[in-house]
Amino acid sequence: MPAQKLDGQQLAKTIRAEIAAAVAERVRNGQPPPGLATVLVGDNAASQVYVRNKHKACQAAGMRSFENVLPSITTQGQLLDLIAKLNADPAVHGMLVQQPLPKQIDAGAVIRAISPLKDVDCFHPENVGLLAAGHPRFLPCTPYGIVQLLVRNGIELAGKHVVVLGRSNIVGKPLALMLMQKPSRDNPGAADATVTVVHSRSRDISSLTRQAEVLIAAVGRPRFVTADMVQPGAAVVDVGTTLVEGKVVGDVDPAVANVAGWLSPVPGGVGPMTITMLLHNTLEAAKMQQTVESRQSAVSSRQ
Ligand SMILES: NC(=O)c1ccc[n+]([C@@H]2O[C@H](COP(=O)([O-])OP(=O)(O)OC[C@H]3O[C@@H](n4cnc5c(N)ncnc54)[C@H](OP(=O)(O)O)[C@@H]3O)[C@@H](O)[C@H]2O)c1
Repeated sequence: MPAQKLDGQQLAKTIRAEIAAAVAERVRNGQPPPGLATVLVGDNAASQVYVRNKHKACQAAGMRSFENVLPSITTQGQLLDLIAKLNADPAVHGMLVQQPLPKQIDAGAVIRAISPLKDVDCFHPENVGLLAAGHPRFLPCTPYGIVQLLVRNGIELAGKHVVVLGRSNIVGKPLALMLMQKPSRDNPGAADATVTVVHSRSRDISSLTRQAEVLIAAVGRPRFVTADMVQPGAAVVDVGTTLVEGKVVGDVDPAVANVAGWLSPVPGGVGPMTITMLLHNTLEAAKMQQTVESRQSAVSSRQ
């Protein structure tokens, strides 16, 4: 029997409707709509598409979005000035600087310049530290989207052996952290799983992947995971998006559908979930900043 589809498109629709309802309620209560600022430096075609989709998703959810496009010759100082301005803007609750950045710009310095309270990508070292400590302020969008895709399809993760292919700072590493952590009230992405992380120096990768009850592929190598690498009935999440002859191709060979119990498609799997969790984080950022503001005004009224 072919694998059941882990339909990110459909689930994203459901979660975005929940977010839109929460935004509408905020606005009805006289609070400002959550606002997301994007910063795009240069004219990378793929980045332009990603950013455009983020703005469209914000509008559909009733959020405000602020587009900042800078030329590829922008200096680091100019970019840091813009980030400082957005940090200080009360209408901007979440901010992201689209990667990759031109060579003259130090991406680490840019990430560190974003206010941790507005860092909806969860890339700032303070937020990465909170995540590693099990008390996340934000959950990174792609890993959070993957966990939601599994959990909301009824795939139990507690105690399961999950194999994560890839250890990048954007996907593999934070995902492994979330999966292995103990759930608690302030850690909604924690999954209590047993996690193996595989990377380019790992040996006998097939024997590791065949042990996976849940296999997540984030290597960026088209059709890397073949049917013989998958345990029959396993849930397989394909994170990969590589452009091959004008088509987006995942890390999982389509023949895996004949072995796996569940499989996420590319496109239409993890991609729509990533943008959905960005909207979720922007809403959470707006709530957090409101709490900070009301604490500050309570303190100043007592003085
Ligand atoms: N759909 C979405 O929303 C979304 C979001 C983010 C990323 N992506 C896609 O997901 C893929 C991964 O992204 P990324 O940012 O994590 O990529 P990345 O930074 O290039 O990391 C790739 C990881 O895969 C490992 N790897 C590469 N070749 C391998 C091999 N032959 N055997 C075992 N491990 C290998 C690397 O190991 P080393 O660490 O040893 O080099 C690295 O840890 C890309 O296709 C990207 O476009 C999709």
